[in-house]
Amino acid sequence: MATKKSNTIKLKFDSARSLAPAPESKSAAKIDPQYELFINGKMEKPQSKKYFPTINPATEEKLSMIAEANGADVNKAVTAARNAYAKTWKKMPPAERAKYIYRIARMIQERAREFAIIETLDGGKPIRESRDFDVPTAANHFFYYAGWADKLEYAFPNRRTEPLGVAGQIIPWNFPLLMAAWKIAPALACGNTVVLKPAENTSLTALKLAEIIQEADLPPGVVNIITGAGATGAAIVNHPDINKIAFTGSTEVGKIIQRAIAGTNKKATLELGGKAANIIFDDAPLDQAVEGVINGIFFNQGHVCCAGSRLYVQESVFKEVVRKLKDRLETLIVGDPIDKNTDIGAINSKAQLDIINKYIKIGQQEGAEMYQSSCALPKKGFFCRPTIFTNVAQSNRIAQEEIFGPVLAIQSFRTDDEVIEKANNTPYGLSAGVWTDKGSKIFNMTTKLRAGVVWANTFNKFDPGSPFGGYKESGYGREGGVHGLNAYVNIV
Ligand code: NAI
Ligand code: MG
Repeated sequence: MATKKSNTIKLKFDSARSLAPAPESKSAAKIDPQYELFINGKMEKPQSKKYFPTINPATEEKLSMIAEANGADVNKAVTAARNAYAKTWKKMPPAERAKYIYRIARMIQERAREFAIIETLDGGKPIRESRDFDVPTAANHFFYYAGWADKLEYAFPNRRTEPLGVAGQIIPWNFPLLMAAWKIAPALACGNTVVLKPAENTSLTALKLAEIIQEADLPPGVVNIITGAGATGAAIVNHPDINKIAFTGSTEVGKIIQRAIAGTNKKATLELGGKAANIIFDDAPLDQAVEGVINGIFFNQGHVCCAGSRLYVQESVFKEVVRKLKDRLETLIVGDPIDKNTDIGAINSKAQLDIINKYIKIGQQEGAEMYQSSCALPKKGFFCRPTIFTNVAQSNRIAQEEIFGPVLAIQSFRTDDEVIEKANNTPYGLSAGVWTDKGSKIFNMTTKLRAGVVWANTFNKFDPGSPFGGYKESGYGREGGVHGLNAYVNIV
């Protein structure tokens, strides 16, 4: 009997890509065909009568239709927030406010799987990330700030604080639920009410959060969630009855907002772009450092304001680190974000993919040497191969400008002073990473790097208890930790 040729060669474990598909079940997440605006505790049809589609960037399929709030809708939401502030929320004993915030945290945990799946379908990030990072960290933010609600006197000893009033909060598409939590939790804990607008590409988890807020019985109007694009955001910023703007997004829009509120009493916190440097010294544990660099730039497709998009490697280990990086690049799985094995999911939108591809071209034109993983990309959807550039000059645009994609620019350095000078030489200052065996070197670097967060021998680690925010064009104000309370109170 003729036997079939053995398959052993095929079965040999050649790369992680030979893993069998392990998709998460889409049926565990219910997405309605159409979503309305969440105003004064109810789902309201938009006065604009307009809706826009939201798609799955991994398949380009439409997921749902989202209401577009116009000026009249924004006004309705701000009025609801003002009334809730004056009549209910401001007067409520802080320990009572905390109960509602704890309830929201618990309900996110209870529905964590559903949130993770929807986040991945709507935004393109790997399910592993939305499941293990975005959703639990969002719940943790509500838990953390719930704890502060009745302890503000300890956060501001010997001072009395007052809430600001109505906060207008505008968030981006890279961490939709987590950014909503970052914004809403401290605002509520300090006694403010909220009008929040998610980014137009990723409205769904914020609208799911609206469902939770409704079920948690939060007094109507305390949190209002309205959807739409830049014009809706601008209407929030320009509404005269808003006391504070909290914005995370592009430096370009951050500047528009600064101009719009100049000369008003509106307070603002702005979390804008970044061009973080990871710095590897020759005494660093190199495998660990390489893993950290990979996580720092390819995590969430590089859609991270604090992504480690620049890498500086000390000359004596430069070749070895670049070789290790290339080897690791080959094992990264790019593909369907709903698959639990996927490392790099879909780019969030066609527009963002165009920006990334434009920069990849610019890098080549500038004379840098490009290396991309050889993996196949899905036929549909917006995908980008993880890309590294060597032979980069400090003045190159790929070393100066935010790309917001899986693209790493690598340079070498010899001395501490040289790398500090280079790392600080961009318009941004959000984060940085240092990899070395020596504590003294870490302390030296952290005092000289002009970045809001400096990670040592790790990268992209977040905790509700630690503050986050930038220097220079990365914005101002801090979110997270005790510092994050500052942004939502007047000290009297
Ligand atoms: P964007 O800044 O336009 O969008 C962020 C949010 O602002 C969205 O909710 C949007 O609807 C809103 N918005 C837009 N125009 C507005 C206006 N005039 N007034 C008030 N709100 C407004 O960011 P975009 O266009 O989606 O991305 C462009 C670039 O920005 C990216 O390539 C990336 O470099 C950077 N970016 C940085 C983020 C960060 O976390 N720091 C997040 C998103 C984008
Ligand atoms: Mg924009």
